[in-house]
Amino acid sequence: MKKEVKKILDDAKRYLIQQESLFGDEIILPKQSSSEQEQSPVEKDVSGEQFGVAPSWVESKTLDELEAKIKNCVKCPLGKTRTNFVFGVGNHKSEVVFIGEAPGAEEDLQGEPFVGRAGQLLNQLLASVGFRRDEVYICNVLKCRPPGNRDPLPSEIEACSPYLVKQLEIIKPKLIVSLGRFPVQTLLKTSASLGSLRGQVFEWRGMKIIATYHPAAVLRNQQWKRLLLEDLRRAKEIFLQK
Ligand code: URA
Repeated sequence: MKKEVKKILDDAKRYLIQQESLFGDEIILPKQSSSEQEQSPVEKDVSGEQFGVAPSWVESKTLDELEAKIKNCVKCPLGKTRTNFVFGVGNHKSEVVFIGEAPGAEEDLQGEPFVGRAGQLLNQLLASVGFRRDEVYICNVLKCRPPGNRDPLPSEIEACSPYLVKQLEIIKPKLIVSLGRFPVQTLLKTSASLGSLRGQVFEWRGMKIIATYHPAAVLRNQQWKRLLLEDLRRAKEIFLQK
C-alpha cells in the first residue's frame, strides 16, 4: 500500500515539474463540467467514492449523521428517479433489525420503509409476536425505489449495500432478520436460495442473521404466512436470549 502511495506521489511530482517547465509556476486547472457544477457537496462526497476517494460518510458515528451524508446519493441511476431516499426507521439502538429489499411506490412517496400493503402485514405480524414497530429498526438493502418494483440489479446492490453495512455497524443489533432473499444474500455474499437459507442461524460480523419470507411474497401466497410467523417467533426468542 505504502509503495502504491509513493508511486502516485512520485508520478504527481514528475507531472508538476514537467508542467512547470512548460508553463511556469501558474497552475492551469480544467474547467468544471456542468454535471460537476450542479453537484451538491453531499453528492460530490458520495460520488468521490467512484474515483477511489474515501467519502466522509464512512466515518459516521450515528445514523442521523450517516443519513445526512448520504441522502442525496446519486451513485446509481435510481438516485435520479426516486421521490425520496428511504433511509430507515425505528429505534437506533434496537437489538433486532428487519431488512427488506427496496422501497415500493408508497415508501418512495412517504420516505419510510414498509408503509404500503406489505408494511401493514409486517406491522400486524410483528405485533402478534410481541414486537412494536417503534422498538425495532427497519430498513432496506436499496434506499431508492427501482421503477415498477422490479428486483434490484446487482449494480444497484453493489452501489447501495455499503450504506446498509454501515447502518448495521452503527446499530450493532444482536439479530438481523432478512425479509426475502436479497438482504441475506447481500450480507453473506451468497446466491443460495431463500429456501435453503431459511431455518438456519448465520453469523455476520458478530451479529446473528435469519432469513424468512418477504411480506409482499406472503400477500401473493397466503400459505407462507404461517412460515413467516414461525420465523418471527424464532426471531423473538433469539432477541430475548441473554
Ligand atoms: N418492500 C420492501 O422490501 N421494502 C419496503 O420498504 C417496502 C416493500
